[in-house]
Amino acid sequence: MSNSKRAQGLIGLVGAGALALGLAGCAGGAGSGSEGGDGDLTTVGFVAVGPEGGWRNANEQAVKDAFTQEAGFDLKYAPAASPSDQKSQLDAFATFVNDEVDVILLTATEASGWEDSLELAKEAEIPVVLLDRGVDASEDLYVTRIAPDNQQVAASVGSWAVETFPTGANYFVLEGVPGLSVVNERNEGFDAEVSSASGFTKVGAQTANWKTDEGKSVIETVLKANNNDIQFIFAQNDEMGIGAAQAVTAAGLTPGTDVKIATIDGTKGALEALAAGQLSFVAQYNPFFGDVAVDAVQKALAGESVDSTIIVDSATFDSPEAADSALAEGLGF
Ligand code: AHR
Repeated sequence: MSNSKRAQGLIGLVGAGALALGLAGCAGGAGSGSEGGDGDLTTVGFVAVGPEGGWRNANEQAVKDAFTQEAGFDLKYAPAASPSDQKSQLDAFATFVNDEVDVILLTATEASGWEDSLELAKEAEIPVVLLDRGVDASEDLYVTRIAPDNQQVAASVGSWAVETFPTGANYFVLEGVPGLSVVNERNEGFDAEVSSASGFTKVGAQTANWKTDEGKSVIETVLKANNNDIQFIFAQNDEMGIGAAQAVTAAGLTPGTDVKIATIDGTKGALEALAAGQLSFVAQYNPFFGDVAVDAVQKALAGESVDSTIIVDSATFDSPEAADSALAEGLGF
């Protein structure tokens, strides 16, 4: 939908929205152009990450399930060439601006390097909504960031560790891809709880790029280098934590007994590993916020104010029983 057409459309849309609202009150405002042809659909450019693990698949599917044609959207999904390939994301973003989409959704593979692109979108009056990850840019360059609270989610891991190890522990941190907002925020939240607790010694931290095999190889090296004198591992996502459990077992130790492992995400695999005692704590990072994103987009296109940060609630699971009931409730993804 071209700029001038979009400007018209916006007025029309608000008009139409009001009308649509009038016609189909329950269907919602902007984005519910179901009465007309494709031209009435709100075009949404989704600058996404693409395949990267259980959490990413669940989140991007939740976005696709929410931004449907039935809901009045024409979602254009642009996954990155790889989970750390920002160039392909910058190109997709520029293409969406050139194509005059109505709104852009962005999950950045890197926090830095987005100012120019966001400035371009702002000049073109294309609202940008951040999903999951933050960017190093001033808030007036995007509508909102929608995500669970990474500091708080990681703090729940830290407070569990302090409770579980009253006399402290030697611990290691498996980090996600360097340079991501979520990685820094999870370190901040966790450290805020553990750094002041007595007896906790941080043996080290290293990226395992969100991957199970890298989590396994990093922890194999760490256990060898420390004569297995590690009692606790904080893995910033499930896949790396499951790899850590494999390394603990390979070292002849028992996960959950000799070494306790806590993770973030809440995938089915992690809940099953918690139920089996391989993991000891799982903090959910709730991926199901497609509808929240639709609501923010509709408000933005209707010219209504949207909070600059929208926090998605998440749960925690601290025992095999909690994992079993979460799995029974279908909470794993
Ligand atoms: O940005 C969120 C993180 O990205 C998830 O915790 C991790 O699993 C994903 O790859």
